[in-house]
Amino acid sequence: MARKRTLLHNLFIFVLVLGILAASSALILPGRMVAECAPSHITLTWTGDTQTTQTITWKTDVNTQDGQVQYQEFMPEKFGEQQTLTAQVERVDSNWGEFNVHTATLTGLKPGTRYVYRVGNEGSWSEQYHFATAPTNPCYFKFLVFGDSQSVNYDTWHTTLHQAYQANSDAAFSVNMGDLVDVGQEYGQWYDWFNAAHGVLENIPCMPLVGNHETYAPGGRIAMPTLFTDQFKLPMNGPAGLKGQVYSFDYGNAHFVMLDTQIGEEGRFVPDMLEKQKMWLEDDLAATKQKWKLVFVHRALYNNKAEGNSMLQAGFAPIIDKYHADIVFTAHDHVYAHTYPLYGGTAVNNPATGTIYVATGRSGSKTYADSIAKEWDNFFYNPLAEPNYLTVEAKGSLLTIKAFRQSGGLIDAWSIDKKSGPSNIE
Ligand SMILES: [Fe+2]
Repeated sequence: MARKRTLLHNLFIFVLVLGILAASSALILPGRMVAECAPSHITLTWTGDTQTTQTITWKTDVNTQDGQVQYQEFMPEKFGEQQTLTAQVERVDSNWGEFNVHTATLTGLKPGTRYVYRVGNEGSWSEQYHFATAPTNPCYFKFLVFGDSQSVNYDTWHTTLHQAYQANSDAAFSVNMGDLVDVGQEYGQWYDWFNAAHGVLENIPCMPLVGNHETYAPGGRIAMPTLFTDQFKLPMNGPAGLKGQVYSFDYGNAHFVMLDTQIGEEGRFVPDMLEKQKMWLEDDLAATKQKWKLVFVHRALYNNKAEGNSMLQAGFAPIIDKYHADIVFTAHDHVYAHTYPLYGGTAVNNPATGTIYVATGRSGSKTYADSIAKEWDNFFYNPLAEPNYLTVEAKGSLLTIKAFRQSGGLIDAWSIDKKSGPSNIE
């Protein structure tokens, strides 16, 4: 009898332990690896001269301290001289845990030249990839523009990016217009965003700007977009407090200016954020001698959603008018549109005297049915059914903008021609 009671007792304990184990295992979250010892999220950007430098970043776990880039000029059927550069290592703390970001900026490269490279270290090298430096005076170049890629998951962004790149494998680089992810201080979203972009980020530089969602942190908090600046290494020529997220660079005959319109979010951390950018923008545009002046902002100065951005318009538009930026690319409203040439907020008859504002649409899954055409719009298209992307082509005196559906259908195409006398939209 006593033996039977002991057996029942042991059985009860066994079942109890099994139950506790089963319950506790249900509480264990699926394993999530922030980064491994092998390089991941290999990304090309520029921090310096696009003709002679190339910045490469990648991630590893925190135990992998040493990383290198091995590179050489790409010469088919010929063995070029291989060079090695040791990367700087930065430890990044995220809500998913810590990881290392390795950054190497190759300098002294030949303009208009293709290089082959790999990153990592002995026993843990990445695959080989290629990059190309900007030619000194390119007759022609093309870049891709992606509006807000923020999504529930990043499958849509993956499809838009890869279809755009497949259809435009001659693109020299891409611009991402802000709101790359939905919650910018939530590392899991970046993890998915970078994984979705694998196969393109390693091949052409990505030059992004900050959107309001980059400042959103878990728990509804607002923060500086540190996961953005930790992961994208960009020119540090912006104003104090905004370096690495407000910047300018040249490619071919074009000058690119990236601003940060998140005054409502970041202004609490960077006092006089708008004033600092206005002074910097004035100096930056006054100094450039490039044929094309292209400005990129996340929140539109001339918007398509109901609420306006009068502070941004009053702050930036007079400087854009004064130095005659040719085009201001915008985002945030998730529609594709372009305005008439505007000067002082009024439509003028040609782009020689006015600036055209281009809303770049959406490359992710989020749509806004309430974004509408405004009186300043010359063309308006709401990509509710399918995401979209843009190509911008510079050829001599001609700048051509095309908007495509994700699947490749043409939405719109137009040009500015500076060849002789007044420019016309063709
Ligand atoms: Fe936005």
